[in-house]
Amino acid sequence: MSEQKKILIIGNGGREHAIIEALSRSPQKPILYNFGTAINPGIQNLCEEVFVGDIMDNQAIQNIAKPLNLTFAIVGPDDPIGNGAADKLKEINIPTFAPSAACAQLESSKAFTRNLLAKHNIDASPDFGVSTDITQQDQRRLFYEEYDGQIVVKADGLLGGKGVIVAGEHFTTFEEAEEFAQKSIDKFGKVVLEEKLIGEEFSLISIVDGETVLDTPAIQDHKRAFENDEGPNTGGMGCYSDENSSLPFITQSDLDEAHKITVQTMKAITKELDERFVGIMYGGFIVTKRGVKLIEYNARFGDPEALNILPILKTDFVEVCEKAISHSLSDIKKLEFEPVATVVKYLCPEGYPTNSVKNVPFTKYKSTEKNPQTGNQQIFFASVGLEDDKLILKGSRAIGILGTGKNIEQALKNCESLITEFEGPVFFRKDIGTKNLIQKRIDHMTHIRSQQ
Ligand code: AMP
Ligand code: GLY
Repeated sequence: MSEQKKILIIGNGGREHAIIEALSRSPQKPILYNFGTAINPGIQNLCEEVFVGDIMDNQAIQNIAKPLNLTFAIVGPDDPIGNGAADKLKEINIPTFAPSAACAQLESSKAFTRNLLAKHNIDASPDFGVSTDITQQDQRRLFYEEYDGQIVVKADGLLGGKGVIVAGEHFTTFEEAEEFAQKSIDKFGKVVLEEKLIGEEFSLISIVDGETVLDTPAIQDHKRAFENDEGPNTGGMGCYSDENSSLPFITQSDLDEAHKITVQTMKAITKELDERFVGIMYGGFIVTKRGVKLIEYNARFGDPEALNILPILKTDFVEVCEKAISHSLSDIKKLEFEPVATVVKYLCPEGYPTNSVKNVPFTKYKSTEKNPQTGNQQIFFASVGLEDDKLILKGSRAIGILGTGKNIEQALKNCESLITEFEGPVFFRKDIGTKNLIQKRIDHMTHIRSQQ
């Protein structure tokens, strides 16, 4: 009998709980280890051992990984990926499902990605400009005026979801745009200015090995904290996907276009860096009157998107990671998913994201241990801790609740009936996945397509 596989997962959020849960369902029954900044009670239930420390410390990652005799490692969050965790693991001969820091520039540098697409004639970007110098201030004003102020300003580095400002939503004057642009130049040496695109956004997350792209179901995330897409931006309050692995307002041809953009971009990276991208290419796309355009790439699973996708993945996720690492994903041909709709909502502490209550317990909750994951409902722990048998809010998105069903309506019912079993100083967005909100998206898209 061959030895049991051993896998180290870096990161301790809801996304990593979903990754670990998917690995734990593998018929290969791997031994799982976790290294995160805190203990996640859901992850702890599924792992042989949990290590706590600074996941941005590459030496600490090497020290933990080395003695474990690992088959491979997975790096979950963007920050350690951008910080070269995969490079450091490879240095000690641990194969890793995550891109190198060079490949991860796809997420960490907006300028890298826009310039890559332009150089390789991939027609998916809005009009854009990269500015490096205060003396080009006039140029920035010209760009601003050309689009009548309808622009987006993007910092050229990771800022924990706060690196983008959009006209009409975050600023209204040139001076505000200019101030943000200057801050990006001071910090990262560059800023990206883009034409503001109008349309409906969707996420298409693909597993790639530098040669093959395997797509997962298309998802729509909701970034604003409050109902009707109001309030400050968050990491994502909730997501849904339809039973046909698509969304009610996008067509097969939109999905084909997005897939083609990811294939072309992956190949462009190989040419540009002489290195193959292994891991996740998560495209944030927007369907506009001019077709599908790329908003940005991330080099990791989305959170909460991973909570929609991974629980319904039928293909053995251990095998998928190993095939990606060995550049033989083409053996798999297509990822298999349960033919169900999904709705995920994050329960968040009151005050999130600007002024969250912290270190306060839930008054009533279900644990993932006492409540084994059922067919159509699942719990994913994120920013919570377990102290003296109490589940404590740690200040960020706390618990992701997944409902699945034969359609979005049923998936929503299953999500809602479980999420309301949690009580405490928490809130969630009731409107995500509702008929009303989805109809708004469909009507918006019908209007956009009528302008084509
Ligand atoms: P990013 O961090 O690039 O995903 O940007 C955050 C959000 O800003 C996206 O989800 C979009 O809603 C918005 N955004 C970014 N770029 C553009 C663009 N060129 N046009 C319109 N909205 C954009
Ligand atoms: N849900 C958005 C993200 O993971 O970036």
